[in-house]
Amino acid sequence: MDTFSQARAAFDRHVAKFRGEGGALPFALEAKFNHTGEVCEITEKIVAGEARFSPRDALIFRLCALFHDISRFEQYDKFKTFLDRHSFDHGDRSAALIDELGLVPELPAEDRACVIDAVRVHNKFAIPPDLPPAHLDAAKMVRDADKLAILRLIIRFFNGDYSDPTIRLDLPDTPGWSPAILETALSGKCVVYADMKCINDFKLGLFAWSCDINWPASAALALDEDLFGQIRALLPASEKIDRLLQSARTRLAALRNTNPSCRKNP
Ligand SMILES: [Fe+2]
Repeated sequence: MDTFSQARAAFDRHVAKFRGEGGALPFALEAKFNHTGEVCEITEKIVAGEARFSPRDALIFRLCALFHDISRFEQYDKFKTFLDRHSFDHGDRSAALIDELGLVPELPAEDRACVIDAVRVHNKFAIPPDLPPAHLDAAKMVRDADKLAILRLIIRFFNGDYSDPTIRLDLPDTPGWSPAILETALSGKCVVYADMKCINDFKLGLFAWSCDINWPASAALALDEDLFGQIRALLPASEKIDRLLQSARTRLAALRNTNPSCRKNP
């Protein structure tokens, strides 16, 4: 068995601890299990679009995708929540579990340190400036793949698939939006959840994610799936919101076009 298959088997053995008698996971954990699969799938796609990465890089990135949320199972089991502020920082805890569970023991020490670091920072507001430069690519990759998977999930949720219990918004679904939130989003800045007054504010805040996509192939994927166009379609008619979408698309297209092999044929 190759290293990734062994890691996958170890991951599945860990997840099995949280399965019930018939082998089923609690509903909330099944959603997290599926999310991990989606982050793995997206990682493969981004790697396939970026010729710059070696097979060693690709293995590190695939392991980051597989392990990035591994603490979610324990988090829900113990605390019945996915909210870090009510339990633990799930990036830190997932990183710690890689050692605690003795995952990928045969991986060279430097590669292992890289996976652990990238998993640790995958959920932080920004990549910490003291991250070793050699670990930066992995951190960028797992953050991109995670963001794209979450955008897909949010779109599914707002289009009526409420089967995913990982989305919890304590915001009212009122018409309109907060003008200050739209201005913040238009200026390309991050919208803080505490400032959001309604669900449309949350949707507007998602456009800032287009500023925190790192790889051209990630931008290409976001554009091909029209993730931001789909978010825009969930918002009311407004020229300013159209402009917000346009600036996200322009930003992503500029990043995509830095890699000639990701560029669209005219
Ligand atoms: Fe996460």
